[in-house]
Amino acid sequence: MVGNVMAYGGREWPSRYEDAGALAARRWARRPSELDADKPSVSRVYDWYRGGAANFATDRAFGRRVQSILPELRDLALCHCRFLARAVWFCASLGIPQFLDIGSGIPDAWGIHRAAHAVSPECRVVYVDNEAVAVEATRRMVADDDRLGVARADLRDPDAVLDNPVTARLIELAEPVGLVMGLVVHFVPDSDDPASLLNRYRDAVAPGSHLVLSHDTADGHEEDMAHIAGLYEETDRPLIPRDRAALTALLGGFQLLDPGIVHMPLWRPDRDDPTFDRPERTCVYAAVART
Ligand SMILES: C[S@@+](CC[C@H](N)C(=O)[O-])C[C@H]1O[C@@H](n2cnc3c(N)ncnc32)[C@H](O)[C@@H]1O
Repeated sequence: MVGNVMAYGGREWPSRYEDAGALAARRWARRPSELDADKPSVSRVYDWYRGGAANFATDRAFGRRVQSILPELRDLALCHCRFLARAVWFCASLGIPQFLDIGSGIPDAWGIHRAAHAVSPECRVVYVDNEAVAVEATRRMVADDDRLGVARADLRDPDAVLDNPVTARLIELAEPVGLVMGLVVHFVPDSDDPASLLNRYRDAVAPGSHLVLSHDTADGHEEDMAHIAGLYEETDRPLIPRDRAALTALLGGFQLLDPGIVHMPLWRPDRDDPTFDRPERTCVYAAVART
């Protein structure tokens, strides 16, 4: 069972299945017209991993197939929420006043603005995703808060992300930005040159900006991840796990902060984390780096 109280601010975290974000997501009745319920969507499948309700039978069936390979999957997704919260809290504590969460997904109770606002209530956050369902669900979450915004754009098109009117309204590029890319860069194939993309974002933001990155890896679990990547071929987002050397190269234009690239539970650990004793099993590397 997962501990219920997060390490910072004494903030109470909802338990997995009482997830307030999932309840909110259940209300996304006005569905985007381009919704395809017959094909698993990576944002809806991930919503299911986290115990959310903004997913369809096809997403759940797909998720169960992944879970048959990686039974700890849903604990791992929760562990990832906690990593993002720790990393954003860390960046906000350094005085970063604004965050751009690219590949932000369907919101949950852990939306990164909560971690940022626990440190500084003035922090501005723009959520960016290129799936309509994620953007629509996020729109509802941010509607009444003028510190928050949501934009639909593709990570692979930095101009579209950075020049989006919502980004332009809330993110001041002359000030440090927390660039958050949680579990999204592994959907960017080598043919799209993810290192150059990261460097484009780095060059666009002010010195002192930070990148929060998490990324699937097969290191130590090659066979399982090969099966999982095979399943993701059925989605429109093939999954490209990368090893430590590839991630080190990807982050070559950034200054890695301690503890470097580590398995996710080991990034400035929260010892209540259920995956803390078997960090490699998360199949996710995490890092925070400075521009
Ligand atoms: C596994 S989910 C992670 C969601 C969130 N970052 C988190 O950690 O909770 C990946 C998200 O990235 C989005 N995504 C994938 N490729 C993308 C791209 N090229 N541009 C923008 N978003 C993308 C998907 O739509 C999905 O919502």
